Amino acid sequence: MARRTALILGIETSCDETAAAVVSWEGEILSSIVASQDELHARFGGVVPEVASRRHLELIAPVIEEVLTDEVEAIAVTSRPGLIGALLVGVSAAKALAWARRLPLMPVNHLHGHVASLYLRPLDLQPPFTCLLASGGHTMLLDVQDRSGYTVLGTTLDDAAGEAFDKGARLLGLGYPGGREIDALAKQGDPTAYDFPVARVPGLDFSFSGLKTSLLYKVRDLAPQELEARRADLAASYQRAIVRALVERLEAAGGERIAVVGGVAANSELRAALPDAALAPLPLCTDNAAMIASAGRYTDPVPYPDYLSLDARATA
Ligand code: KG4
Ligand code: ZN
Repeated sequence: MARRTALILGIETSCDETAAAVVSWEGEILSSIVASQDELHARFGGVVPEVASRRHLELIAPVIEEVLTDEVEAIAVTSRPGLIGALLVGVSAAKALAWARRLPLMPVNHLHGHVASLYLRPLDLQPPFTCLLASGGHTMLLDVQDRSGYTVLGTTLDDAAGEAFDKGARLLGLGYPGGREIDALAKQGDPTAYDFPVARVPGLDFSFSGLKTSLLYKVRDLAPQELEARRADLAASYQRAIVRALVERLEAAGGERIAVVGGVAANSELRAALPDAALAPLPLCTDNAAMIASAGRYTDPVPYPDYLSLDARATA
C-alpha cells in the first residue's frame, strides 16, 4: 500500500475512555493520552452511558490539544461499535478538526482497532494469525489474513469475558472495573479451591453466563464472614475458569500463530497461560487511541468534505 500520510491523529470515545494519540505511518507512537472515567463510573458499578457522553464532551478538546501537532495529515476516529452518545462526541470532534484543516478522515471499527494494537512498533506483528479479542464488550476469535480486516470464527453467545470479570467482581464486592481487581486478588487465592463450569458450546463460540450464575450461588451460600475469608479463593477459581475457557477455544481454533488483544489481554494469568502468543503490550490492551490511529493506516480515507455526512453506529 502506498504511503499516504506522515502522521495520523487517532481519536477514541466509544465507551468510558477519552483518548487521543499521534502515530506515524510506520506505526511509531509519538504520543498517546487516555483520560479514564473509571472513577466517575465506579460508584455505579459500571458505565452509565449518559454520564460517559457528558464527560467525553468536557475532555475531548483538551485531550486532543495535548497531542495535536502541525504534522498531522489525517484523522482516524472510532465510528462503531460502542455507546452511541459517546461515539458521537469523538466523531463530531474528528469531523470538525478534519474540516477546519481540510484533512481526510478514516472511520475506524473499534474491534479492528484492538487488532491493530498489534501492528504498532516495536511489536509490528505480521498476519496471518489467529486472534482472541477479549474486552468488556466483545469476545471473539478472529482469523487475520491481512492488516485491513479479519474474519470472525467465533463469538460469545451471551456475556463478554470482560463483562464476566466485571460482574464477578461486583458479586465479590470488589471495585470497578472488575478485571483488574480480580486479577490482583486472585494472586492471594487458591485457583483450585472451587469448581466452576466451563461452558462447552458447539463450534468456536463462547458462553460465560453460566459461570457468573455459578459464582452467584457460591457467594449466596456463604455467611458474610465466610465470604470475607474465601474471597481470594473465589476470585482465583473464577479467573481460572474464564482463562481456561479462552485458552481452550484458542487452541481449538488452531493456526500457527496466535495473538491476544483487548482489555482482558491485560490479565496476568491469561498472559502466563500463553507464553508463545503475541500479546498486545499492556498499555495498549485497554481502550486507547494509538490502536485507532494504527487501524486508520489500513482503512480507506474519506476525502474532505464527503465525511461530513459520516455517522456513528452502536453496532459493528
Ligand atoms: O478493551 P477494553 O478497555 O474496553 C472494551 O472495548 O470493552 O476492555 C475493558 C475490559 C473490562 O471488562 C475490564 O474488566 C477488563 O477489560 N480488564 C481485565 C483486566 N484489565 C482490564 N480483565 C481481566 N484482567 C485484567 N487485568
Ligand atoms: Zn475496547
